[in-house]
Amino acid sequence: MDVIILPGPEAVGSHAANLIAQRAAANPEMVLGIATGSSPLGTYRELALLRAQGQATLDRVRCFALDEYVGLPDGHPASYAVVVADEVTTPLGLDPANVHIPDGSAVDIHQACLDYEQALTGAGGVDLQILGIGTNGHIGFNEPISSLASRTRIKALSAQTRRDNARFFSSGDAVPTHCITQGLGTIMDAQEILLVAQGPSKAEAVAAAIEGPVASMCPASLLQFHPRVTVLLDEDAASQLTLTDYYRFVTDAKPLLIGEGQ
Ligand code: GLP
Repeated sequence: MDVIILPGPEAVGSHAANLIAQRAAANPEMVLGIATGSSPLGTYRELALLRAQGQATLDRVRCFALDEYVGLPDGHPASYAVVVADEVTTPLGLDPANVHIPDGSAVDIHQACLDYEQALTGAGGVDLQILGIGTNGHIGFNEPISSLASRTRIKALSAQTRRDNARFFSSGDAVPTHCITQGLGTIMDAQEILLVAQGPSKAEAVAAAIEGPVASMCPASLLQFHPRVTVLLDEDAASQLTLTDYYRFVTDAKPLLIGEGQ
């Protein structure tokens, strides 16, 4: 795992965008796993900027979102279908036919989850998965005590996550109770993972994920088992780590290899 501590949220976004652009240059049809929430928004903005400057070519990139709320009406502004269209597909100039999101309004949710797994497999799996992290250590919407081997399925959201995400809705009660999320096993199948976190509210979850024991109480800690993970943090998100001197030493010692080795 490469843990890279950057001065602020802007640097996190720009570092992440450059890494994604590099991977897309090497593999123009790569499958990019996309996260929603506020954490990767800076990354998408920087990536759009790189594209506008001719430094990123993304038109053949294929995308799979991590998750979606269940039961929101079509076109709801907080639905991940709308967020992905506005923050990712349009600004990055992606072909909408290449952007996949779990179907949270499916009549048969179980079948929709199976279909999503099949579509992922059919596309050859995720090459690079972008992740944020919840304040309770969730990735995707895999809440604490999610099975470490889980696949795409319906999940009940925790009270903490519903409180955290209330800012995207008219009220706390308007936050859906359920979601479809790629499982932890699904996420771990990605060839490479890029986790971004900013701000003091993420510090505890980040420390538990990177330096704590691997435990379903902190789903992101499972990433310790993944051979190719880069974690980009601002100073606030890194503030509860204990080995920061070591992470800085490693980063300084191999600037050319950032994102390449663990
Ligand atoms: C959200 C998403 C996750 C995201 C996390 C953190 O609800 N389902 O994919 O990483 O929770 O959200 P934010 O980045 O807004 O803090």
